[in-house]
Amino acid sequence: MSDSFTSPNSKGGHPRPPFPFPFFRVIRCLQGYFALMNLSKFGEKFTQKAGITQLMDDLGSAMAGGDMLMLGGGNPAHIPEVQQLFRERMEAILAEPHGFEAMIGNYDGSRGNEAFIEALAELLRNEFGWNITPKNIALTNGAQSGLFYLFNLFAGDMPDGSKKKILFPLTPEYIGYADAGLSEDFFTARRPSIELIGDRLFKYHVNFQELEVGDDIGAICVSRPTNPTGNVLSDEEILHLNAIAEEKGIPFIIDGAYGTPFPNIIYTDAQPIWSSNTVLTMSLSKFGLPNLRTGIVIAREEIASAIGDINGVMNLAPGGLGAKLAMEMVRNGEIMRISREIIQPFYQRKAFQTLELFEQELANVPCKIHKPEGALFLWLWFKDLPITATELYERLKERNTLIVPGSYFFPGLEHEEWPHKHECIRVTYAQDDAVVAEGVKVICEEVRRLYR
Ligand SMILES: Cc1ncc(COP(=O)(O)O)c(C=O)c1O
Repeated sequence: MSDSFTSPNSKGGHPRPPFPFPFFRVIRCLQGYFALMNLSKFGEKFTQKAGITQLMDDLGSAMAGGDMLMLGGGNPAHIPEVQQLFRERMEAILAEPHGFEAMIGNYDGSRGNEAFIEALAELLRNEFGWNITPKNIALTNGAQSGLFYLFNLFAGDMPDGSKKKILFPLTPEYIGYADAGLSEDFFTARRPSIELIGDRLFKYHVNFQELEVGDDIGAICVSRPTNPTGNVLSDEEILHLNAIAEEKGIPFIIDGAYGTPFPNIIYTDAQPIWSSNTVLTMSLSKFGLPNLRTGIVIAREEIASAIGDINGVMNLAPGGLGAKLAMEMVRNGEIMRISREIIQPFYQRKAFQTLELFEQELANVPCKIHKPEGALFLWLWFKDLPITATELYERLKERNTLIVPGSYFFPGLEHEEWPHKHECIRVTYAQDDAVVAEGVKVICEEVRRLYR
């Protein structure tokens, strides 16, 4: 539509005013507005509503609303003893001469706070005998951004023209991976095998029989403990996956956001495992500092160095407040004790208490629950659920109860039809006991009604 649009006037040929004038004006204004948002492929990819962004938005608005039963998000609990320890650390830093000024006024290097990195390398050497120096460690603004860097270091468009993918050998997996690739078709995944345990529990295992790793795989990744299921892959599974990765000459990424050595939210006997072929990512978030955005990458020197390079471009340096606050605890090993004696028992008690509530409330419902082995979640599988888990989520939201529908947690399996994807939900037990109990009651009422 041209700007000089007119139509001949039958009387005397004078131009008529543009018609319908205000309508086209509005359209042109809108066109002008959207022209400003003429997005690149990158822009389009990262502004389409990713699952993780939707979830964070939902959580944010539910938090703002105030009366939601928040069994949806991944926010860790405010554990009073841990918060008190951080408060004391902060007060000690503030009392040091120039402590406050140095904390807020200096950039760290691109790999993060050097003193923290040195202390952590020593802790890992002493505790686990890992062959680690500070050159094997880089900090990031949260593990989330570290994983984003790692995925895009090893997969996507390769210099020789080939394409590589990140493989999740077992899904369900963490929702936050799903959109973290710079190109399309970035992830691939495998279904697990399912072990039924007694009447009520089940457990996912890596299905090694179906696990072929082709030349199009750039790295293998698992979260351990797994968000959303609370699964902890066994030492054998981890060693087997590492052996496969090593044979293919690709890294094996273990996302230890809930794992050892901290915050150690693990209820089984899993050993911490690292080798020069493993990339271990950790985080201070579930240790109690999610808002300080501190992620840790432990890897071969050249990988840690690459993370520092990307940090430099993306952030100059990662924020250092988390490292500063946790430094003493890493230096004196207290971080391990706090994890073992406060954080782990805190969540373990809540996990089994919530499990018991579900068992009582769902006596006659064909629901199975993933064996709680760690993290902050219970994963419920409603076999032959009459509606999808997403519809269940909507119904529960109407009743002021927030969970996360399971279908989000299958990155790399998006195009695969599998009813299981729509039969599961994730329930967080990190909130206050009363909130969790109330939420469980609502979920069970709704589910019982559905099966009736
Ligand atoms: C499995 C997993 N990995 C990584 C992250 C990201 O953690 P961070 O807060 O350090 O970015 C999360 C956050 O919930 C997670 O659940």
